[in-house]
Amino acid sequence: MKTDAFKFFNKEYSIDEYTELYKKIRLDIRYPANVKRLEIFINLLKKHKPKKIIDAGCGAGMPLIQIKKKGFNIYGYDKAKNMVLEAQQNLKKNKLSTDLIFYDDFEKPKKIKDNSMDCILGMGAFFYTRNFKKTILNQKSKLKKNGRLIFSLRNRLFDVATLNNYTKNFLDKIYEVKYLKKEWKKKYENLTKNFSDRKKYKLKNIDEEGVVSLVHNPLTITNEMLELGLKCEGIYFYHYHPLPPVFENFDQLYFRKISWKMENPTDWRGFLLASGFVVDCKKI
Ligand SMILES: C[S@@+](CC[C@H](N)C(=O)[O-])C[C@H]1O[C@@H](n2cnc3c(N)ncnc32)[C@H](O)[C@@H]1O
Repeated sequence: MKTDAFKFFNKEYSIDEYTELYKKIRLDIRYPANVKRLEIFINLLKKHKPKKIIDAGCGAGMPLIQIKKKGFNIYGYDKAKNMVLEAQQNLKKNKLSTDLIFYDDFEKPKKIKDNSMDCILGMGAFFYTRNFKKTILNQKSKLKKNGRLIFSLRNRLFDVATLNNYTKNFLDKIYEVKYLKKEWKKKYENLTKNFSDRKKYKLKNIDEEGVVSLVHNPLTITNEMLELGLKCEGIYFYHYHPLPPVFENFDQLYFRKISWKMENPTDWRGFLLASGFVVDCKKI
């Protein structure tokens, strides 16, 4: 049984990490994918100018603080109690009211009135759910008509370009390898056997940590959202990989430098080379 994300993020090392992530860009320390993501969100907020914003799954509150400092009226919540405590410390350090961040659950938010919000943000949040559809519908019910739901997702198509065990799983599914006749299955296995196995390297991702987390297809997300009563008006890519991720093990700094140069939210290569994307939707 997989671990609920809020339990995973309640741990001490996640909490420190989520305060540190947004400090100075230092490619030698970490890849600033979240900084890029936040830039995309801030640009969309500047474009839409919503009056009242909620940051669902706000973590340690650093993105919320930056958005608040730009003059937006924003509140946030998280289900990990330690994240809420850390966020409140971060608010204090920035001389902001600790009431801006509270405890709630994006799978069934209790403290937000229906039809009351102009904008809901989910930065690295809504894919950490066991029931994506229900989570999105619950956000929609909190939005006013024409309100915006802006959230990030993990890119399922990125699996094609990673040339590792994720690629193998992805291709096995789309080629329906399990139904192939025996000799062809063998030929196919021969073709794909040299894809690198992430397990050989020490950095673990959220799947390998056994945390509940979903991936989505940027080619089908617009229709998926429409079925839920949300019109998707833009898709923006971030966390580009200029080569399969295994190359990061060979020269991490160089890999990060060329990745950072490549970041461009509207480059079509993002469909395959970016591990994340932001969806900008309107309640219809
Ligand atoms: C990857 S972190 C992102 C934090 C923050 N949005 C950021 O961008 O820095 C995901 C956050 O979602 C929170 N979370 C997970 N499930 C949740 C739920 N059902 N309701 C509210 N928050 C949740 C976690 O506790 C964690 O703080």
